[in-house]
Amino acid sequence: MSQTPVGIDGIELWSGKLRLDLPNTFAPVKDEDPEKYTKGLGVEHSSLPDVYEDIVTMGANAAKQLLDRKGLTPDDIGRIDVATESAFDNSKPVSTYIAGCLEEVYEDDFHHANKGERKFACVSGTQSIDDAYNWIRAGRNRGRAALVIATDTALYERGDPGEATQGAGAIAMLIDSDPDIVALSTEQGFGSADETDFLKPNQQFPSVDGKRSMQVYLARMREALEDYESIADDTHSDDFAYIPFHTPFPGMVRKAALLGFRHISRGTDVESALASEIGSQPRESEYVSREAYEEAIRGYMDELKETDTYREWYETAIDPTVNIARMVGNWYTGSVHIARLSTLMSAVDADRDLAGEKLLVASYGSGAQAEIHAETVQPGWREAIAPINVDTQLEARYDLSFDEYERVHDVHNHEKDTEIEAFTTPESEFVFTGWGRMSERRYEYVE
Ligand code: CAA
Repeated sequence: MSQTPVGIDGIELWSGKLRLDLPNTFAPVKDEDPEKYTKGLGVEHSSLPDVYEDIVTMGANAAKQLLDRKGLTPDDIGRIDVATESAFDNSKPVSTYIAGCLEEVYEDDFHHANKGERKFACVSGTQSIDDAYNWIRAGRNRGRAALVIATDTALYERGDPGEATQGAGAIAMLIDSDPDIVALSTEQGFGSADETDFLKPNQQFPSVDGKRSMQVYLARMREALEDYESIADDTHSDDFAYIPFHTPFPGMVRKAALLGFRHISRGTDVESALASEIGSQPRESEYVSREAYEEAIRGYMDELKETDTYREWYETAIDPTVNIARMVGNWYTGSVHIARLSTLMSAVDADRDLAGEKLLVASYGSGAQAEIHAETVQPGWREAIAPINVDTQLEARYDLSFDEYERVHDVHNHEKDTEIEAFTTPESEFVFTGWGRMSERRYEYVE
């Protein structure tokens, strides 16, 4: 007898209400070619938080939108897991703050919900979904759903190369049995190793070895794919309608997708069909040294990415996954979940019938760990995705000048004491109002 599916039943997103235009505002000040951002990294805008926004307000606002749309109240929720790399407290979890906010606007409360905070860089959003999945599968949920919120202010030190990849926002997901959107596979693959590519040792802004972080991303992703295949069988490009990746910036996905395609087409009809055009894939046993083999691989990949077969696959299975990332930057823990949402929204726009089709979801967190699993799109996906108002939110963002960007970056810098007027006016949302007597952060709902 097959098991009841468990997966994502609802999604809502809350973007930081400001935006930085990379080609038009950032590039001229940095004296860089705008195409470095639009074509190289693949990003147009970063979402940034206004002065009254932070990981709690964005998370609570996304969660409230989700509960309201699903017609749920706190009594329907048995756990709240928050994934973040931007936490401001080493003891009290962000989920308690978010629950506190939500309890201001609902009659019932979350006193019997299990709350926590997950940490493993950007992969912790996916790990929180795992925890919820396992809790439901174990039958400990008492018929209730789990709320998973991935929320981050992904800010870098000004002048750091990562500054061009910043972002801020939250994505809230409801995990339940018989989900409307996607059901998760039991099979998972992991690629995990102790790495020092990107870390925040008790500091707000990350220490980053940018170029190395990209190599580590690719190496762990490859391990995770091999591990996934060891349990779920070999993958083929025809198996998956879309492959959403963790997207620190779309250029990273471009690199990962090419490696991924080489891997999943090796030894298949796809490799055979391409052989007359670009030859077969180099096999290590055919080369006298590792260097010679690696050079042959680079040559093969350069040719592979120019083939119609690869371009068509990329355009169909990968490009739609980065539509939102292009407009918002990196949201760390939320990034791969934005990629999934971007995919599904693009399928709604294209009027594609996705029910029953599969996604291969590739998450990554620095430090470092990749995780790969499959998801099956459920019959209710279109009705669940179509109402999500991403475009309206993104269009409403305030467009910062460079000087304004620097001031708001300072406001969110924990080392600085900067106060400026907000750029936008809050309406029907949670806002940060200041600190309490024990240095706790305080919030209220503004009608
Ligand atoms: N036209 C077109 N393309 C251009 C261009 C132009 N005028 N100028 C540059 N480019 C291209 C470059 O060729 C390069 O592309 P390739 O890598 O394909 O060659 C791309 O634009 C970026 O240019 P640079 O490599 O010169 O950029 P940089 O050195 O200033 O910074 C970075 C790039 C190292 C990734 C930096 O943004 C960074 O440190 N980011 C933070 C770390 C990060 O995101 N790492 C990703 C993996 S780790 C992870 O995924 C976890 C996470 O979320 C942080």
